Formats: sequence, structure tokens, C-alpha cells
Amino acid sequence: MKNRILTGITTSGTPHLGNYFGAIKPSLELAKKSSDSFFFLADYHSIIKVNNPQEVTSSIENIALAWLSSGLDTKNSYFYKQSDIREILELSWVLHCVTAKGLMNRAHAYKALKENNSDDKGVNMGLFSYPILMSADILMFNSTHVPVGPDQLQHLEMTRDIALRFNHIFGDTFEIPEAVINNDDPIPGIDGRKMSKSYNNVIPLLCDEKTLKKSIMKIVTNSLEPGVPKDHTNCNVFSLYINFASDKEIEEFKDDYANGISWGDAKNKLFDKANETLLPIREKYFDLREQKDLVNDHLSDGAKKVRPLAREFIEVIRSKIGIS
Ligand code: TRP
Repeated sequence: MKNRILTGITTSGTPHLGNYFGAIKPSLELAKKSSDSFFFLADYHSIIKVNNPQEVTSSIENIALAWLSSGLDTKNSYFYKQSDIREILELSWVLHCVTAKGLMNRAHAYKALKENNSDDKGVNMGLFSYPILMSADILMFNSTHVPVGPDQLQHLEMTRDIALRFNHIFGDTFEIPEAVINNDDPIPGIDGRKMSKSYNNVIPLLCDEKTLKKSIMKIVTNSLEPGVPKDHTNCNVFSLYINFASDKEIEEFKDDYANGISWGDAKNKLFDKANETLLPIREKYFDLREQKDLVNDHLSDGAKKVRPLAREFIEVIRSKIGIS
């Protein structure tokens, strides 16, 4: 079966381990088994929350470098910036007009902000219709599979609803995409909540050894003394470790917990493993970062490859709705 995967990351903040294990790594693995793969930087999504132009620009560069350093092969995939494909915004408007407002009222991101806030304070229209722009990202390329974290599942359901609605009104046009859930358990941040820029609890992906160690040492644990057996379930250090370690190493770490490993030693073990895994990515990052224009060149090549597909398809969509 021909399958086309597509996924994006919002360009706010610096890339962290949550992005890597939740999106980048599983998507690159899935790409190996897929006919086509589309990876993009959701920069128009970022301005919903970020009003600082420098932050947006540097985040675009860093998220792009995170993909490239992690092994994205631009020759065998489509790698681009959402804002370079203007037709996505055009499609977004068309989709707005077939989307029930009630569907958007139910979006988790909107509902969370709306709670105890009858005036919708702090909610801009971008946030409200965020899932529609995301649908346009996905439907524009008729992707069949969308690798995402569990928090994005609702957006995929909405995309399917919107696509079905359009197809129902205007005739078969869009593929109905399926979500592929990358990681059932969200990657915990240093405070144990889901790793996220909004919680300020991230461990950066592209940093030097010292910074990595400092972040790992900050992970919140309990006050059990060395020598006292510890529970590995619900432990932030352990939950991070399993992403880096082999099955055998995970079993050994469980034994260490049962034998009362100290938190300092447990964190050192996590650091050693993380450092070993991240070393090749870091080295590539330091190298790519020095190559002037590298990111821009990749993204403009990507736009050149992707835009003709979008142009062709938007013409089909326009003629379906009677505008051509
Ligand atoms: N909403 C996603 C996130 O915050 C980013 C995103 C935008 C996306 N458009 C997408 C992911 C399309 C997959 C497909 O992580």
C-alpha cells in the first residue's frame, strides 16, 4: 500500500528531548517504512503564542537543525517551512468554511484556556482555529499517516471530521488520514509533568555535555536516602532512562532501584546513557550550525519541491468549490 507520512513541529522555543522522542525519532523511523515522507516546520502555528520575531526566527533555525542533526535525509523526503507553502493558508480558509464552530469549541487547547474565563481572555482566533490550520497542513498533501504525540490525537480526529465534511459536500477530494501515536507515555520534564516549553521543564536536545548534566541533575525526585529501596514506577529519572537504554539495561536499572541506588548515582547513570546516545546528534549539530545558509538552502529546496504539489491540488479544490 502506498503510504505517505507527514508531521510537523511548532517552531517555538528550543528543541528538547520531548520533541526528539515524541516526534523526531519515531517519525524518522516510520519514514523508512513509508513511500513518501513530509516533515515541516509549523511556523505559522508558532505566532499564536509567540510575539517575539527573534524567537520565532531562531526557533525555526534550531528546530530545522534538530531534524537535520537527527538524520533527516532531505533527498528522500520533503522538508519545508509551512509559511513557504502559501496554498496551505488558502486551504485553511476553505476548511474554516466547512468546519462547525461547535467542533472547535471542544478543542482541548481552547477549553483549557477558557476554563473559568467566560470572556475568552487570552484566546486569540489563531488559537481557536488552530486545529483547522493543522488540518490544512495534513490534507494539502493527502497524507495517509500522521505520526504525533498522544496530545495531538484530538486534532487528528478533527482533521478527519473536516475532511469527511468537505468530501460529503463537494465530492471525494481528501484522503482521510490516520494518526500514528508515537509514544503512549509523554516524556516527563524535570518536574515530572510532560516535557514542554510552556512548563519550563525541558532538557535541551542540542546542548553541550555540561548543560545536559546540569539539566539532568535538576530532575525532581523524592527524599529517600541512599540504601533505601526505591520504586521505579512513577520516577522521572527512570521514565527518561527507558528512552535511551536497551531492555537489558532497563532490567539492571530496576535492580539498582530495588537495591537502593542513590539519586545522585541514578542521575549519573541516566546522564551517561543520554550523553552516549546524544553525542552523534550533538556533533552533527555543531558541524551543521557552522555552515552558513545550510538551513535556508535546505528549506528553499524543500519549498521548490513541495510547492508545485500544493499549487496543483489547490486548483482542484478551487474548482470543486466553484472558484477557478
Ligand atoms: N500541533 C503540532 C504540535 O504542536 C504541530 C503541527 C502542526 C502538526 N501541524 C501539524 C503535527 C500537522 C502533525 C501534522 O506538536
